Amino acid sequence: MHSTQEPKLPAGTGATSFGAHNWTYVLDDSSLLEGRMAPGYPLGVNVLLARVGGTVYAVSGKCVHMACPLFMGRLEGHTIVCPCHDWRFDIRTGRFLNAPELGLTVYPTKLESGKLFVNLG
Ligand code: FES
Repeated sequence: MHSTQEPKLPAGTGATSFGAHNWTYVLDDSSLLEGRMAPGYPLGVNVLLARVGGTVYAVSGKCVHMACPLFMGRLEGHTIVCPCHDWRFDIRTGRFLNAPELGLTVYPTKLESGKLFVNLG
């Protein structure tokens, strides 16, 4: 049975420091299943989307170590594990867990008419 419940989006994903008009379509909401990741390329930007606990997150899609594609890695709870050398990142903050000064860019997300958008700033 199809659920009509709207997914939760991360707190603080409003257009505070991001442009209110910079929302770009990435993919259909129905194509991102719970506990899964998906790559997207809005305006040519490499973005990784993930849904955890019903919340949709978006971060930059290349690992900050050697640019491996993170969508090919694993999602363990809120942790993305890079497929190349197992660096781990928190999908909520983008932070590299072993050195929080390193991290992925986090993008605000929103759902509108069954479509997921990210704000590239
Ligand atoms: S490229 Fe991601 S851990 Fe090395």
